[in-house]
Amino acid sequence: MNDFRNKITISVIGSGLMGHGIALDFALSGFKVYLNDISKEKIDLGFRLISETIDYLSKSRKLDKKNILKNIIPEENLRLAVCNANIVIEAVYEDLNLKKDIFKFVEKNVSYECILLSNTSTFLPSDITEDFLYPERFAISHYYNPPYLLPGLEIVAGEKTSKHIIEFLINFYRSIDKKPSLVKKEIKGFVGNRLQVALLRESLKLVEEGYATPGDIDEIVKGSFGRRLSAAGPFELREIIGLDLGFNITKEIISTLGNSKETSKLISSKILDGDLGVKTGKGFYQWTDEKKQNWKKHMLDWLILLENSDKNSK
Ligand SMILES: NC(=O)c1ccc[n+]([C@@H]2O[C@H](COP(=O)([O-])OP(=O)(O)OC[C@H]3O[C@@H](n4cnc5c(N)ncnc54)[C@H](O)[C@@H]3O)[C@@H](O)[C@H]2O)c1
Repeated sequence: MNDFRNKITISVIGSGLMGHGIALDFALSGFKVYLNDISKEKIDLGFRLISETIDYLSKSRKLDKKNILKNIIPEENLRLAVCNANIVIEAVYEDLNLKKDIFKFVEKNVSYECILLSNTSTFLPSDITEDFLYPERFAISHYYNPPYLLPGLEIVAGEKTSKHIIEFLINFYRSIDKKPSLVKKEIKGFVGNRLQVALLRESLKLVEEGYATPGDIDEIVKGSFGRRLSAAGPFELREIIGLDLGFNITKEIISTLGNSKETSKLISSKILDGDLGVKTGKGFYQWTDEKKQNWKKHMLDWLILLENSDKNSK
C-alpha cells in the first residue's frame, strides 16, 4: 500500500478553507502533496491551519506531525506545483473564469495521464471544461468541510469524462478510506447541496409562516432525525420504518410542503442588513468570539467521535 502511495503525487491549487483541508487529508493518508496559492502569505496561512488541525487531531489519535508536514510541499509557482502531479485538485475561489484560466495553464504543464479535478460547489463539468484540450480526464471531486473528518465526497462525471477515470477515482478514494459517491450526470448542486437546500427551503417556510423559530428547528434536526441521518440515509430510513408507513406519512404532507422557486426574502433582508452570521457576529443568532470557538470545538469533537465510532465498527 505504501508503495502505491509513493507512486501518486497530488497537487492542490488554493490553500484556503477547503484546499488546506484537502491537502491535509491526503498527507494524513501518506501522499506527497504540493500546495499552491497566489502568494507565500496565503500558503503560510494554509500551513498554519494545517499545523493547528494536526495538533487538535493529535489529542485523539497518534500522528507523526513532522512527517505529515514534510509530505506537504509549499509551491507558489503553479507550473512547479503541478508538473510532477498525477492528480491535480483545484480549490480556488468560486469564479468560473478563474477556474477555467487555471486549468488552461495546468493542462499545458502536466502529463497526459494526469487527472484533473475541481472542488467546485456550483459549476458543472461542462462549464469548466469548455476550452479543455482533453475533457475526458476531468471530473469534479466535491468534498465537504472539513475534508479530513468527513469521508463522503461526490465524484461528478461530465458527459465527456472517461469511464476509466471515474472507475479509477472511485477505487482510489475507497482505498484511502473515503466514501465517494458517483453523480452520474451533471446537475446543479450535485446531490448533497440539493438535499441541503431542500431542507433549508422547508425550514425557512416554517419560520416565515410562523410555525417555529430557527432555534427550535435547529434543535429538532440536531436532536432527532439529524442524528439518525449519519447512521442511515433517507432510503435506508424509509425501509427501516417500512415503505408503506413512509408512503402514508408522505401522502398526508406532500401537498403542504414549500415549493418556492425563489430565494428566501428572509435571508435576503438579513444580507441587506449586514447580518451574515458567524462572519459578522449576527444572523438568526448572536455569535460572540467565545460562542464561535465553542461551536467549532464541538463540531470537530463530534466528527472525531463519529470517525472513531466508524473505525470501531469495522
Ligand atoms: N467552503 C466550503 O464549505 C466548500 C465546500 C465544498 C466546496 N467548496 C468549493 O471549494 C472551492 C474553494 O472554497 P474555499 O471555501 O476553500 O474558499 P477560500 O476563499 O477559503 O479559499 C480559496 C483560495 O483560493 C486562492 N486562490 C485564488 N486565486 C488563486 C489562483 N489564481 N491560484 C491559486 N490560488 C488561488 C485564494 O487565495 C484562497 O486561499 C470553491 O470552489 C468552493 O465553492 C467550498
